[in-house]
Amino acid sequence: MIPQPAPTVGRSDWFVHDRFGLFIHWGIYALPARHEWVKNREKIADADYQRYFDHFDPDLYDPAAWARAARNAGMRYVVVTTKHHDGFCLFDSQLTDYKATNTPARRDLIRPLVEAFRAEGLKIGFYHSLIDWHHPEFPVDGLHPQRDDLAFREAQRHRDVRKYAEYLHGQVRELLTNYGKIDILWLDFSYSSRDWGWSKGKGKDDWQSERLVAMVRQLQPEVLLNNRAEVGGDFVTPEQYQPRGWVHVDGQPVVWEACQTLNGSWGYDRDNLDWKPPTLLVRMLVDSVSKGGNLLLNVGPTARGEFDPRAQQTLAAIGEWTRLHGRAIYGATASPLTPPPDCRYTQRGNRLYLHAFAWPFRHLHLPGMAGRVEYAQLLNDASEIRMVETGTLGHGTPDSGAADSLTLVLPVQKPDVTVPVIELFLKAAPQA
Ligand code: GLC
Repeated sequence: MIPQPAPTVGRSDWFVHDRFGLFIHWGIYALPARHEWVKNREKIADADYQRYFDHFDPDLYDPAAWARAARNAGMRYVVVTTKHHDGFCLFDSQLTDYKATNTPARRDLIRPLVEAFRAEGLKIGFYHSLIDWHHPEFPVDGLHPQRDDLAFREAQRHRDVRKYAEYLHGQVRELLTNYGKIDILWLDFSYSSRDWGWSKGKGKDDWQSERLVAMVRQLQPEVLLNNRAEVGGDFVTPEQYQPRGWVHVDGQPVVWEACQTLNGSWGYDRDNLDWKPPTLLVRMLVDSVSKGGNLLLNVGPTARGEFDPRAQQTLAAIGEWTRLHGRAIYGATASPLTPPPDCRYTQRGNRLYLHAFAWPFRHLHLPGMAGRVEYAQLLNDASEIRMVETGTLGHGTPDSGAADSLTLVLPVQKPDVTVPVIELFLKAAPQA
């Protein structure tokens, strides 16, 4: 039986079908180009961080090019940072001056992005930071860039998180009112369990999450909400790791999405060399779907407004694979069957997809599959894969354990694709 996730409040039917999205982390942290947490890591005060605001001039920004790159990579939705923890807003919020319209960019950078991605047929998601290291009412805590400036801490003791929460709610209202239908809202993040002694972390009481979520549901009943405001949500978000299996909450399989980077950083990080090869990223996509989940893969554009060449090449390489293997991804999910070593299964109705992470010599044995497969082919070129069900494979050597095994006869040469996939047409659709 193919497992089913617990139902969601927002609409998730398209989400669990589409499986693959683009995360975009863009903001003025692209100028220092050393991670989106640079303000925190280097303990930069507002006055010093201002230089990035003053020099943000993304003259090459072409959201249509981003949307095309995403579409060609096989991505079906986008989640873009409207504001990150540094408080800088890419959209034209009426509630702050700390926004793109007041930088040399001089315009709302979110609106044309939404239009461009919609035009390519992608669904739209907003990432909005719950944390804000710029807002004057956001209490200074152990994550704040000026946490070690004792005079600053003392002078700022009056900060009132309730006033900040009003601002937060107001901005979420703007985002869900002024940009048409929004498919995903990705709020990030809560840390109420943190305790530095002199300050505590923040969570649902600070954000007033229940009220916030009620407003979200009222403004956009279909929006799919993530789980980082400490009041549940429609889907869970393992970050920078692949879970061991279908993610469960309270014993129930849930809708989930792994979020992953190209190189360990979300924001543009010039000198970072931890680039994952496309093969690994394709495997991570397959791995997610084989466990009933999605993959949200991030690009951190430069401050000129482009995907840097390494990101572009990676997306193009992934697109080569998804173009030929989309049948094994879109609308597919975890299979109840257990794959052989070095492989993953995804399943869509009576079609079982075997993703070979390693290419064995000539024979791939599928335990338990004797008599269950009607036809088998390589997915990249629809060339038949012959099957052997019983007996010996040569010179009468006993093939122990072969009784219920199906053996696929593979070409010696691995097909010239990142991850080869064999499409198996099962004889009877598994019971729902
Ligand atoms: C984290 C980080 C962050 C990134 C996000 C993506 O919580 O704070 O910089 O935006 O995860 O999942």
